[in-house]
Amino acid sequence: MKLGSEVDSFVDFLIMGAGVAGLRAAVELAAHGDVLVVTKESLGESNTHYAQGGIAVAMEGGEDVALHLEDTVNAGDGLVYRPAAELLVTEGPARVAELIEWGANFDREAGRLLKTREGAHSLARILHASGDATGAEISRSLVACARSHPRIHFAEWTMVTGLVKAGNRVAGADLASAGGPANGNSPQRVGTRAVLIASGGAGQVYSDTTNPAVATGDGIALAARAGAELADMEFYQFHPTALSIPGTPRFLLSEALRGEGAYLRNDCGERFMERYHALLELAPRDVVARAIAREGMDENGGVRPVYLDMRHVTGQGKDIDLHKRFPGISAFLAQYGLDLARDPIPVRPAAHYLMGGVRTDLAGRTSLGGLYAAGEAACTGVHGANRLASNSLLEGLVFGARAAQSMLADGLPLAAAGAPLAACTPLSGSESELLDVCVAKLQKSMWTCAGLLRDAATLREGLRAHAECDAGIEHLVQEGRGGRRLAEAQALSRVAHAILRSAMARAESRGAHFRNDYPQRNDADFQKHSVLRRDGRVVFEEW
Ligand code: SIN
Repeated sequence: MKLGSEVDSFVDFLIMGAGVAGLRAAVELAAHGDVLVVTKESLGESNTHYAQGGIAVAMEGGEDVALHLEDTVNAGDGLVYRPAAELLVTEGPARVAELIEWGANFDREAGRLLKTREGAHSLARILHASGDATGAEISRSLVACARSHPRIHFAEWTMVTGLVKAGNRVAGADLASAGGPANGNSPQRVGTRAVLIASGGAGQVYSDTTNPAVATGDGIALAARAGAELADMEFYQFHPTALSIPGTPRFLLSEALRGEGAYLRNDCGERFMERYHALLELAPRDVVARAIAREGMDENGGVRPVYLDMRHVTGQGKDIDLHKRFPGISAFLAQYGLDLARDPIPVRPAAHYLMGGVRTDLAGRTSLGGLYAAGEAACTGVHGANRLASNSLLEGLVFGARAAQSMLADGLPLAAAGAPLAACTPLSGSESELLDVCVAKLQKSMWTCAGLLRDAATLREGLRAHAECDAGIEHLVQEGRGGRRLAEAQALSRVAHAILRSAMARAESRGAHFRNDYPQRNDADFQKHSVLRRDGRVVFEEW
């Protein structure tokens, strides 16, 4: 869809993001109005697409559902908002059954759905597709379903540059080209009854991440700029096992590998998880990630390799063909001459999933009228301080649908959206280079100052580095420069600031947030959610 031609000035519902939450919401809304799904690249390029391991769901009902709830609550380290987790596990099976009806093909044997196990799950309940391409299959089936609906329109290669308010409510959005085939289209303002932020996470805020380049936290930053509250921003989940080869991207090595029996070993060959947790390699993700970080550091702060080892998994009475079970991972590793069945694979943690986000109620409503959020961009409290593995695709389905239902129920009218913004001047070559340097510095400092292990001193240093980078970014904005990369840099900067401020305020260790200066969990003061208010204060609230 091209801006300025096929996009009307008004559309009933506007959705930012085309991952699982955005598309599930679009399908729900399309029975009642026209929906515009805005996505920065082509359909399918989202965190959803890259999800490997699977989707956790209690398809057997009853006891299975109760156990899924307990596992979710336990993994969240005392901070899961139980009513949200109850909705996740009870509504999840119907949402997955519906997805299967719409054509999602999960792996089966003799007609029965195959299930695997991952960290902190008490049993095997994770459905997968094509072995390790579950996100791609869910994305494919939802895109097909949404594309077949005449009232769902897509604006690909398009970004939302601002939320438009009418009085106290959000009533529209500014759109601009995000490069690709939409390059050169002029900015456009679209009026709408309701906007859904479903733009996913912000892994690019860290130098080491499993997330694709599009994960720059745009929706979270725009919502905060419009005055919406954020919550639990200090909780960034670091996936324990990203591929660690210098100069290569931090490719995700699914937790399902450990579910199928992989060991973690240090450079002495020791299976070190025995020293950290009774569940060994299947301990909660935050515990495993910190253990790897510790084992991967020598006394002088240098790096020691840590390995994921599956060599024992095949050929010892275990009927598993690793290449067949994990075809995507095997093919990726083969490019580097590595083979799951033959080689220990070097790994290290990388930023993976934001538990915090735009604060919402259980129906996706944010603190701003007309603005809704779902999926990774949102914070319902469902993951607490540490998300249970493979709960995020389910979250997108359940809370995407719920947000759409409240957008319909609230029945807000269309409001005047005003004139579109003037086009900005693109960055010059030297300005682009400066921006790249600035963003790289921000990402590096977030990794060292607000990564797996933090304390007041590192966080202060992070805030100092952030202020320097932010000044560089804002200078370009003040000069009237624009475009996708500058908008993404602004978003990263805002999200980084929210993480740093919230991490500084939480003077305890819990889940993914570990403070060297406050290594204990402190329930008396902090069994609460952090809320970043519109006035910039971080407060703690019981939900
Ligand atoms: C994985 O496959 O390990 C990632 C799944 C998730 O993040 O839940």
